Amino acid sequence: MVKIVGIAGSLRAGSYSQQALTVAVQRVEALGAEVEVLALRSLTLPFCDGGDEYPDYPDVEKLRQAVQQADGIILATPEYHGSFSGVLKNALDLMGFEQFSDKVVGLISVLGGQSNSNALNDLRTTMRWIHAWTIPEQVAIGQAWKAFAEDGKLLDETLSKRFDAFAQSLVENTRKLRGVS
Ligand SMILES: Cc1cc2nc3c(=O)[nH]c(=O)nc-3n(C[C@H](O)[C@H](O)[C@H](O)COP(=O)(O)O)c2cc1C
Repeated sequence: MVKIVGIAGSLRAGSYSQQALTVAVQRVEALGAEVEVLALRSLTLPFCDGGDEYPDYPDVEKLRQAVQQADGIILATPEYHGSFSGVLKNALDLMGFEQFSDKVVGLISVLGGQSNSNALNDLRTTMRWIHAWTIPEQVAIGQAWKAFAEDGKLLDETLSKRFDAFAQSLVENTRKLRGVS
């Protein structure tokens, strides 16, 4: 079975990145993938200091192991100052080739302003540098404060269809690249 890990790059309670990740998770689960969501706000992570070992922070190993065991990864980030969040960058800096090389990655961003691809393009560059295969399908949710209903469902049908195409591509390409059913 395809194993996917989902990570959202916001620590904010009620985060739209987390809500977008939940939508994506539901869609990939419907296609038969097994998903684990890693909530960064519930992990205690240090700033990456360039070393490999963080003995005082067992959650670093927890994060690394969960991603290492996955075939695919969904990254959902807020756009912060025209890029992806520092929280997510730090989590990625605590990992590397061992966790991401030859994995399939899908990218989502949420923005307070108009939809654009700034954070997604920057994340795509980072993924290339740790040898992950990022699918071309991606989702950017502009004005995220009006994108979700109270129950977390997407209000816009076109956006919802984008999530379907995203999930389909992520699961199909993970199966192909990883040779799992
Ligand atoms: C430090 C900071 C920088 C931001 N920069 C941008 C930005 O460049 N473009 C934009 O559209 N929204 C920007 N926003 C708004 C966030 O993208 C928006 O509030 C988003 O919903 C936050 O994600 P979250 O709901 O997952 O916490 C910024 C918010 C913060 C806190």
